[in-house]
Amino acid sequence: MWRDEEFSVGVASLDEQHKGLFSAFMNLGQSIENVYDDKALGVMLNLLFIQMEGYVKTHLRYEELLLEKWSFPELEAHKQKHDLLENELAAYKKCLDAAEDEQKKAIAQQISLFMERWLINHIQGDDRAYGPHLRKMGVV
Ligand SMILES: [Fe+2]
Ligand SMILES: [Fe+2]
Repeated sequence: MWRDEEFSVGVASLDEQHKGLFSAFMNLGQSIENVYDDKALGVMLNLLFIQMEGYVKTHLRYEELLLEKWSFPELEAHKQKHDLLENELAAYKKCLDAAEDEQKKAIAQQISLFMERWLINHIQGDDRAYGPHLRKMGVV
């Protein structure tokens, strides 16, 4: 799924984090397929979601700090896109918490699809836009 020419921002630490996020969310969709006990699935999804939300937030903060450090001129607009994603994830979490166990698999599949699409659009459309600035500053 990952191809440097489509997704690389040209900074190794960020590319590694982006790759990690991709595989985490693609695995979410796949790893729940083989669990048939709704109750066990509900517990597992709570843990997985918290873990993945943690990865996402850690990445967003890291990226924002790097952009701030190197004075990326469109930092505020970029941060707003991150904030929107965090709101979206918080809404999904509420939805997951409120759902009956037998509905959780379908919600988790939606989250996994939503995140895959978000990551593709955001990395290609927004993250790659800061690549030239960071490279000009000598960040590798
Ligand atoms: Fe970003
Ligand atoms: Fe990013």
